[in-house]
Amino acid sequence: MSRKKLQLPSRLVHMEPFRVMTVLQRAIQLEAAGRKIIHMEVGEPDFSTARPIVEAGIRALDSGLTQYTAAEGIVELREAISAHYAKHYGVQIDRDRIFITPGASGGLLLFTNLLVNAGEGVLLCDPAYPCYRNYIYMVGAEPQLVPVGIETNFQPSVASLNKHCKSNTSGLWLASPGNPTGTILQRNDLVETLEWAEGKKLNVLVDEIYHGLHYVDDLPSALEVDTDTFVVNSFSKYFGMTGWRLGWVVVPSEYQEIVSTLAQNLYISASSIAQYAALAAFEEDSSAILEQRRDSFRRRRDFLSTALKGLGFTLPDDIQGAFYIYAGIENFSDDSEKFCADILEEHGVAITPGRDFGESDSSLFVRFAFTTDLDNLQLGVERLTRALRKAH
Ligand SMILES: Cc1ncc(COP(=O)(O)O)c(C=O)c1O
Repeated sequence: MSRKKLQLPSRLVHMEPFRVMTVLQRAIQLEAAGRKIIHMEVGEPDFSTARPIVEAGIRALDSGLTQYTAAEGIVELREAISAHYAKHYGVQIDRDRIFITPGASGGLLLFTNLLVNAGEGVLLCDPAYPCYRNYIYMVGAEPQLVPVGIETNFQPSVASLNKHCKSNTSGLWLASPGNPTGTILQRNDLVETLEWAEGKKLNVLVDEIYHGLHYVDDLPSALEVDTDTFVVNSFSKYFGMTGWRLGWVVVPSEYQEIVSTLAQNLYISASSIAQYAALAAFEEDSSAILEQRRDSFRRRRDFLSTALKGLGFTLPDDIQGAFYIYAGIENFSDDSEKFCADILEEHGVAITPGRDFGESDSSLFVRFAFTTDLDNLQLGVERLTRALRKAH
């Protein structure tokens, strides 16, 4: 039988694979061939889920809590998240405004469908998390990239937003702390940015997935500044639950009904087992473990950022959150894909080329993820030292 050749929808034309996956696959091949590889490419915590959360998941399974839940998520978890906002940010967020999603990814999918029309434009930082662009393409809209650099701590200035805002721009997506840079929007900049967006009548989505994994005293949630911001968050990073696929969004109250309808249609509900497990994430025994892990990340950040600066990479003075360093390689190369490939093949250190995250100057940057322990980071730095000495 001759089959009609599948014509891909035009909105998929721009979709690109993650280069980080290519790096990871090659690293795995090299490991299979007996090489020791230092993994600094993968963006997920190397710790497995904290025991109290795992035990709550097991209890949910044993109790048969294995059906769909309401599309909004279980009430207990929405209440726990509401209490989390009150405790950590001093904001009252009604539990009805909180929706549990299959990861931040599910939340971003939901928000894309809710907020973005075909033909509209959405302002995004360049560099940023690669999926943002792809979500926007998927609904036939236009990602409008705002180049950000080390001089503005890799966050957008109002001047740069103004410059890139067009007549079809309808939204602004921000991340604080951001991936791949680990930098945050300081409170006064957040206020200024949200005011600017309001003046332009743009809807604002803020990705706060790396909250909790921050190393500064003041990391404001956008909800503290404007309670009507669309916020996405997740149990993946600080709570160490990547594989459970669980996140949440906060929406202004007038959107509750339509968000429920969208959630029912897009994924019915998030995993019930994961939701019951996540209830334990807010309890004291889990918090103690998660805070210890945050301290480990802080120590790794201190070590790696000092070492990379010493080697001649360019990076912000302070990596304020997440577990990434977006480092300039202009002292070594102007081709970050080749730089990463060479470092992996010849020295067994896996890092991600900047091209994954944007277009502006991306060939001059690489991303280091400190998602491996200090011994490995030390070995990675020794290898980089040898590599760079050899090359120069
Ligand atoms: C900035 C950012 N947002 C969203 C996600 C998606 O996370 P998840 O779907 O695991 O919650 C990631 C994952 O790496 C991310 O870095």
